[in-house]
Amino acid sequence: MTGTKRDGATRIIARCREIATHTEVPGEITRRFLTPPMHAVHSLLRQWMEAAGMTVQVDAIGNLRGLWLSGIPNAPRLIIGSHLDTVPNAGAFDGILGVILGVAVVEQLQQRQLPFSIEVIGFSEEEGVRFSKAFLGSLAVVGKLDSETLQLTDEHGISIAEAIGNYGLDPAQLPAALLSRDAFAYLEFHIEQGPILESERASLGIVEALVGQTRMQLLFGGQSNHAGTTPMLLRHDAMAAAAEWIVAVEEYANSHQGLVATVGKLEASPGAGNVIAGRVKTSLDIRHADDNIRHAAVDALTQIAKTAATKRGVTLTLRTEMEQSAVPLDLHLTALLQTAATKAGFHSNRMTSGAGHDAMILAPTIPSTMLFLRSPGGLSHHPNEAVLPQDVEAALVTAMEFLALLSNDKTKDRHA
Ligand code: GLV
Ligand code: MN
Ligand code: MN
Repeated sequence: MTGTKRDGATRIIARCREIATHTEVPGEITRRFLTPPMHAVHSLLRQWMEAAGMTVQVDAIGNLRGLWLSGIPNAPRLIIGSHLDTVPNAGAFDGILGVILGVAVVEQLQQRQLPFSIEVIGFSEEEGVRFSKAFLGSLAVVGKLDSETLQLTDEHGISIAEAIGNYGLDPAQLPAALLSRDAFAYLEFHIEQGPILESERASLGIVEALVGQTRMQLLFGGQSNHAGTTPMLLRHDAMAAAAEWIVAVEEYANSHQGLVATVGKLEASPGAGNVIAGRVKTSLDIRHADDNIRHAAVDALTQIAKTAATKRGVTLTLRTEMEQSAVPLDLHLTALLQTAATKAGFHSNRMTSGAGHDAMILAPTIPSTMLFLRSPGGLSHHPNEAVLPQDVEAALVTAMEFLALLSNDKTKDRHA
């Protein structure tokens, strides 16, 4: 490893950490869709992209897009992207690393000629935190952000359309956010966010498919009342109903191979120690590589919730917030990426992503591929999330090999 290459990786990591200082909540990394700190993120990335010779614009959903033009007129376009938003109290690499690596790829090109242009997209929203609706940025570029979605509101009653306006953008311009007709392939770098690569002592993994996921909100409606005077048999305790169900969610997932199910959110009201909870709002996130198994799990777990509610005279209201099928990535690009890793000197296994990524929204529209970087400690969606400099370097060298292979590949020709 030369000093210069390692310096490049160190700079990429330092840039991720610099972006992480722009947060809604001082002392932690929390940056939701189109919140004020996103302005500073756009401005830093714009600076780095322009210095790399890219032309930069922000589209109407708030995606930051930098275009590096090949010298060839009407050249096809490779898209490299990932997201700029975070979960609450996040780490410094989920999403943003993929964008900054994209910029670094363009920086490496310097005087090199390529038979295709490169557009780096920092998607404005992937996590689904602010509006309980994930992938807003990538849905907009594939034309799948419908007007109904624009009316969804956040916890302050601000709609997505209003949030766009408040940020200084115009929702009427959304059709212009569509991917260029010249786009022929999508590449996303992302930390693995799990323990597999570390257990294999591998820097990189090649993603061949992403699991499907369902996200729901379940509202248990009971009767709040005095904790001291209401006999146990006369209660309608929403918390007890939710609690019974939450344990059943864990048991169900434990007994179904490959299934993961999470209740990550619980809001009880009125929320006092001496008051029976009259209302409990919970979330459910269910994922599996096989959509049929996931659908069966959704049916079973909603039935268990109904039973836990009914036996206490508690009502249950269900809302599905996300329903995303499992997505295979492009076979040919995946093979090309694995060859690139091998040429760069890295052994890489193929893997399935348990996390959702913008690639799953792009894949049905353009051939897409993903490169995972090892996650130390398998930790993500956590402030201690990290990435190793040698793995960032491995990703960058692999990307340059991938561009070389793509230059001589037929994938792009049908778009030229
Ligand atoms: C995105 O981070 C997800 O929850 O899969
Ligand atoms: Mn994430
Ligand atoms: Mn992510």
